[in-house]
Amino acid sequence: MAWKNLLQREYLLPERVYIFDTTLRDGEQTPGAALRPEDKIRVAEALDELGVDIIEAGFPLVSKGEAEAVKTIANMGLKAKICALARAEKIDIDTALNADVDWIHVFIATSDIHLEHKLRLTREEALEKARSMVEYAKQHGVTVHFSAEDATRTEPSFLMRVFREVEKAGADSIDIPDTVGTALPYAMRYLVRLTKENVNVPVSVHCHDDFGLAVANSLAGVEAGAEIIHATINGIGERAGNASLEEIVSALNFLYGVKTNIRLENLYKTSRLVEKLTGITVPKNKAIVGDNAFSHESGIHVHGILGSPHTYEPVMPESFGRRRRIVFGKHSGVHGVEALLKEYGFTVEREKLRQILARIKEIGDSGGKVSEEDVLSIATQVYGKQTLERSSVRRLSISKVDGEYDAACELIVAHEIVAGRGAGSNPVAASLRAALKAVENIADVQLVDYKVLSGMFDEKHPAEAEVILKIKDTEAVGRGLDKDPAVAITSAIASAVHQLLLSQSNYMRVESGHRDG
Ligand code: KIV
Ligand code: ZN
Repeated sequence: MAWKNLLQREYLLPERVYIFDTTLRDGEQTPGAALRPEDKIRVAEALDELGVDIIEAGFPLVSKGEAEAVKTIANMGLKAKICALARAEKIDIDTALNADVDWIHVFIATSDIHLEHKLRLTREEALEKARSMVEYAKQHGVTVHFSAEDATRTEPSFLMRVFREVEKAGADSIDIPDTVGTALPYAMRYLVRLTKENVNVPVSVHCHDDFGLAVANSLAGVEAGAEIIHATINGIGERAGNASLEEIVSALNFLYGVKTNIRLENLYKTSRLVEKLTGITVPKNKAIVGDNAFSHESGIHVHGILGSPHTYEPVMPESFGRRRRIVFGKHSGVHGVEALLKEYGFTVEREKLRQILARIKEIGDSGGKVSEEDVLSIATQVYGKQTLERSSVRRLSISKVDGEYDAACELIVAHEIVAGRGAGSNPVAASLRAALKAVENIADVQLVDYKVLSGMFDEKHPAEAEVILKIKDTEAVGRGLDKDPAVAITSAIASAVHQLLLSQSNYMRVESGHRDG
């Protein structure tokens, strides 16, 4: 715990912080990210399994579907408290009450800029609305969480008046939103401290990432004594997003020594689910959940990692349900290649290793990507072994029948031609099923995960597909690149199976030749 002792001296850190997850409300307000009610339910289940304390399931007033989804989530018997957002308006609070939630998050803007240009209310009118609506919600027996929207741009003495009044009206906790992300860690510490001097209920912070400071500001809130943090999975949310849940809880756990109820090992799979259902791609270099967060290419780093992963990893990837990845390219060094060759049973010979590395660098220099499968193909050539033909997609045809896609593929994997068909709601899903069906003929593989990053549908910017397959306990990551995402996913499957076959000496091999799935 790198800084724990120092921090404990400077700040009164809490033992535990409560996570108020707003992926299904503020996260869903990300432009273009509408979830179907059934998707919201899947995400709510995953959040509950992850261990968040409060799930803000939505803003019931926005639509009938939203109200129904919030109500369904509230009645699913989850461990987390279920919360609904409501403006400081009777109609919002009544709609939230109808959704059977445990908590209502009542909010009203308090900054002059919002009062003048949006609400057209005086400060006194806003104060009265906040007070009376908290009281109204409270009379109905729910837990009331109050937010002063745009708190960080509100004149502090007025903000404190509002907080004192809503506490008197019955608010159970008080939130400080940094609505447009303009706070600094210093300012957040100041505001939380001031709030705690004015009220006795738990204080929370809700930070946006317009200046890339949402996580830093949230942690500053904890340093000053905030007990609740608002966050979203993958940091999705309005504009530049909200504070990222995975980054906050990881920093609290590993750097501050402050506990949350979050099962860290579930973070990655929850992130992937939210990415898939919202369609908002996680950047490769995103902390904790990004593709590159535990990937290493450069020779120096790979050498260090092979000596001890602690050299270049602050925390082991398994802590978050992830795996380390050594990638190959022009920065590769001998150690990474050597480790891969050993893993696949090659006897390492210096000269051959040099030749393989030279070929990898040549491909890397020309801008190409080098997968594990490529390295193994190069190795089999250099070693003069029976060359294992690179896996490939021989044929893929897709048709659309009655709104469903039907894919038929032929793959060449480990010298075999295998064929399969599959259906799905889009070409990628149909091709994925077809390819899995095809490879069923040569190996008993299970799909662990997959993702497709779509490019610009040209040669220079192809779609990138990644598939993780496993046979028993051995996993392999296959990658496919093609301007057509359906071909990319199909070749990623072929590549993963190819690697699995190489690593398994006694896989279930059915006769060679052409087979239909
Ligand atoms: O950013 C914000 O101010 C909000 C409020 C509704 C809390 O999301
Ligand atoms: Zn917000």
